[in-house]
Amino acid sequence: MEKENLGALRKFVVPEFVFGWGARTLLSQYAKNFAFRHPLLVSDAGVMEAGWAEDAASRLRVTNVPFSLFSRLSPNPRDHEVMEGAEFFDKEGCDSLVVVGGGSAIDTAKGIGIIISNGGHILDYEGVDKIPLPIPPLLCIPTTGSSADVSQFAIILNGAEKRKISIISKAIVPDVSLIDPETSSTMDPLLTAYTGMDVLSHAFESLVSNASSPITDLLALEAIRLLIKHLPPESGLSDVSSRERRSAMMLSSLQAGMAFSNASLGLIHAMSHSLGGLTDTPHGECHAILLEPVIAYNYEAAPRQYELIGEAMGLALGENPKETLLSFIGELKQRMGLKKRLSDLGIIRSDIPRLALGALMDPCLVTNPRQPTLLDVESLYERAL
Ligand SMILES: [Fe+2]
Repeated sequence: MEKENLGALRKFVVPEFVFGWGARTLLSQYAKNFAFRHPLLVSDAGVMEAGWAEDAASRLRVTNVPFSLFSRLSPNPRDHEVMEGAEFFDKEGCDSLVVVGGGSAIDTAKGIGIIISNGGHILDYEGVDKIPLPIPPLLCIPTTGSSADVSQFAIILNGAEKRKISIISKAIVPDVSLIDPETSSTMDPLLTAYTGMDVLSHAFESLVSNASSPITDLLALEAIRLLIKHLPPESGLSDVSSRERRSAMMLSSLQAGMAFSNASLGLIHAMSHSLGGLTDTPHGECHAILLEPVIAYNYEAAPRQYELIGEAMGLALGENPKETLLSFIGELKQRMGLKKRLSDLGIIRSDIPRLALGALMDPCLVTNPRQPTLLDVESLYERAL
């Protein structure tokens, strides 16, 4: 089944990337190629503990390139952390950014780059195409599968308002990404499950997006097929460290990342950003809670796309494809141990208007196949309570 976007006018932008086991070892070579004089190495506590930041540092040392380390960032990075990072970049005389980590570290590095080139405050750049000047050279070594290393998105938490802002611009597409599945082998099962939910959400949202294209469809469908095929067959994620599984997950994340970066996202991410901003809940956990109500809401606006999703998952869709898809996603979540609802995060009914308002302000909503009202979004959050 084909979609009707064959002749749509679309631009497709991705960074240069090297994918494969051991890709991170090319850092020294790339540091030379890019003639880095003094990179800011951005990482976070968990990645440093796992040894991946030191691994990168040792590869910079062999090239005799001095570097400074910045790791004062939270799992949902705050605006003030970006501003402190930019100040540190200046103080240390840095000229480039090397980031080793998940979406939080990469988004922080993007934010630092924005301030270094454009000045002002990071919250000034919320929205689409608000960055006039290109950022300093940015090299990423992703460790989770957030796809921030190939995307034109950065998500930063407005700490005072407890609201996540989305910055979307081709100016923050990294210059190169060294995507090494081995770096994801230190992720624990729960983070792996959250990442899986994020990858699926990227693929779903790019497929039903109003800005999808045949190229992004191809990538998103293959990401779904690959991820579902390589998820552990039984409950739990005990076999998460196998090389084949890790490579498949990282590859599906890359494919979904290239898809969503160019087709953009939708209501799942808009509602997850608002929820994560208020509660500091991990991004993928927010998706797990919101995925089914949003798919149920969007389904009639993009039924053929959802059928393609079901087929990519290998489902026999039968008479009621919507119910088949939703019940499969429910089973998948059970299998991955993702059972929480909004009330488990401490959300009560009176929080919902604020959450819904935040979601409606999120630029990810622009490409959702159905434009919800405030009441619609409130009732979706209520269904997830
Ligand atoms: Fe995401």
